[in-house]
Amino acid sequence: MATMPDQPLQPDLRSRAPRPDHVPEAHVREIDMYALDGIEAGYHEAWKRIQQSGVPDLVWTPFTGGHWIATNGETVREVYNDPSRFSSEVIFLPKEAGEKYQMVPTRMDPPEHTPYRKALDKGLSLNQIRKVEDKVRTIAADLIESLAPRGECDFSAEYANVFPVKVFMALADLPMEDVPILSRYARMMTRPEGNTPEEMARDLEAGNDGFFAYVEPVINARRGTDREDLISVMVNAEIDGKPISHEKALGLISLLLLGGLDTVVNFLSFMMIHLARNADLVEELQKDSLALMRSAEEMFRRFPVVSEARMVARDQEYRGLHLKRGDMILLPTALHGLDETLNPDPWRINLARRGLSHSTFGGGPHRCAGLHLARMEVIITLEEWFKRIPRFGTREDINPVYYSGIVAAVENVPLVWPA
Ligand code: HEM
Repeated sequence: MATMPDQPLQPDLRSRAPRPDHVPEAHVREIDMYALDGIEAGYHEAWKRIQQSGVPDLVWTPFTGGHWIATNGETVREVYNDPSRFSSEVIFLPKEAGEKYQMVPTRMDPPEHTPYRKALDKGLSLNQIRKVEDKVRTIAADLIESLAPRGECDFSAEYANVFPVKVFMALADLPMEDVPILSRYARMMTRPEGNTPEEMARDLEAGNDGFFAYVEPVINARRGTDREDLISVMVNAEIDGKPISHEKALGLISLLLLGGLDTVVNFLSFMMIHLARNADLVEELQKDSLALMRSAEEMFRRFPVVSEARMVARDQEYRGLHLKRGDMILLPTALHGLDETLNPDPWRINLARRGLSHSTFGGGPHRCAGLHLARMEVIITLEEWFKRIPRFGTREDINPVYYSGIVAAVENVPLVWPA
């Protein structure tokens, strides 16, 4: 993601929603998902501050339109996995902004969701992804080769923001010069700017409209062709035996761009900051190629980047609370992977960890459709990086800058190595 908020957000100007009658006062905490307290020290560290002993499974915050927050791994997992009680009708906060979000099929519940998901799975299956492995490896190798002789780089700007985007644009057969504008739309959707839910809704809607206007001519050009790029495969997919409608195709292709552009970008930077500060772990990974491949799952557990929501589908009792239809529950995936009751010693990357538990890719019917691609991008990055830059560290005089939102972000990741 190339664009960050031009001006720092001002939490004190942010509007606060009044506490509804069904929310007990003891459950209220002031937590702003777009400006977490303590974010300077790290995104994951900032989320972890709220997971203290005695905190209820669900707390309620007046920020971002007023919503619940799941505070532990069990609750995050349970809400993700039960669409009959916790609907995808709205998944982004503030709710006003989430209602403007038109990506397909993320806002559908089963059974409506199922045929769209089949189309996504076809295009992003392990078999499809294996076919592009050589291409992905060449993109990584070329990029790292251009950095290696320099002895330093800003990993976020020069690798993480470039590699997954190049991979995705190649798979989708789109020109690289379109990346800055698409990255801007992605930022507007995952970290919308504004001090009120209405202002944030306007920013998010503009990002959504931007994606739709961008993909419309692409869809028209590729429909009915036998091209094999990811967009053509999706546009020509059938939904319940009929061609996908134009309106739904706009949402589906836009979602692919959003999913492919913002998540891996930020995940990679979080991972590399950690590796640069943990030489023993780097050595361990380099000793054993199988361990390196398996490490991806532990990396995903350790560095979750997504925090989206579910809407309470009907009035119900849940975990000792009365929830009302339409209430929103934020699911910070950081609070699952880093929950020590599920993953002992959670800050440590433990390559021997068994039974690891996380929601980094969500859960239930909407579990990330791009996870095979994401996993391949992570493994190839590690393999190709270690081949050319086996020892590396961070510059201690420059600190990474963290942002929270629907997808977390990190900028300013200077790495150094013997050239
Ligand atoms: C580290 C990288 C990634 C992370 C952490 C991640 C995370 C997630 C999460 C949490 C969801 C669940 C959304 C929900 O339940 O509402 C999701 C869904 C999705 N992701 Fe990813 N993702 C990653 C990479 C990718 C990539 C590379 C693609 C490729 C296009 C992708 C495509 C999708 C799609 C299409 C969905 C929607 C699935 C559905 O609604 O059925 N993701 N992702």
